[in-house]
Amino acid sequence: MSVTSDSVKKAYRRYARYYDLVFGAVFHPGRRTAIEHLHCRAGDRILEVGVGTGLSLAMYPQEVKVVGIDLSGDMLKLAKKRIEDEPLPQVEALLQMDAQQMSFPDNSFDSVVAMYVASVVPDARKLVDEIRRVCKPGGKIVFLNHFQNKNPLIRKAEALVQRLAKHIGFHPDFPLSHFLEQTGFEVTTAIPVNVLDYWTVLVGVNDKKPR
Ligand SMILES: C[S@@+](CC[C@H](N)C(=O)[O-])C[C@H]1O[C@@H](n2cnc3c(N)ncnc32)[C@H](O)[C@@H]1O
Repeated sequence: MSVTSDSVKKAYRRYARYYDLVFGAVFHPGRRTAIEHLHCRAGDRILEVGVGTGLSLAMYPQEVKVVGIDLSGDMLKLAKKRIEDEPLPQVEALLQMDAQQMSFPDNSFDSVVAMYVASVVPDARKLVDEIRRVCKPGGKIVFLNHFQNKNPLIRKAEALVQRLAKHIGFHPDFPLSHFLEQTGFEVTTAIPVNVLDYWTVLVGVNDKKPR
């Protein structure tokens, strides 16, 4: 069962209310590592793709401008409430938008980060193509995601859960090799993060070469 934009919206409508409780603090080490690897400079304009409920927004330095986009209106509503409750001057805008087809002009951002999103979007190739387009040449591109586990037993379990992908809104057995082949993303640094190093931060530089 494959993931579609509709199934993503439906899944995150269900998750939104509990999202911060379940996917909050325990996933913060990965978020912090991903943002650190953007090497933010004062004045940078940063795009966060799949910003969700905005759990990461307070982690950016106040000297940058962050634009967050998400497909799910339900998740975004909570991100907007967050910045009403806790003013975060680094947040320039939170917009409902499909990351596979963004409305930003080319080269709009100094760097782009997508955390826990690459295995959620229906088409990872379109995601990465769009990120490359809207990011300036030489800008940092950072992904944080879970990729298929190397342990054969865990991989089996992931393959079983994969059958529910449409309902749970992500692909649990998402091989890193497929992601890199499909997208042509070139990794300069890979850092295992979170509990049991089960997730990975992938850092690359936007070379703007067509794939
Ligand atoms: C697992 S959540 C991660 C949220 C947030 N990045 C975090 O660290 O908690 C995945 C998010 O990606 C969003 N998403 C999925 N497909 C998308 C797409 N095509 N365009 C934009 N956002 C998308 C979902 O709506 C959801 O909010």
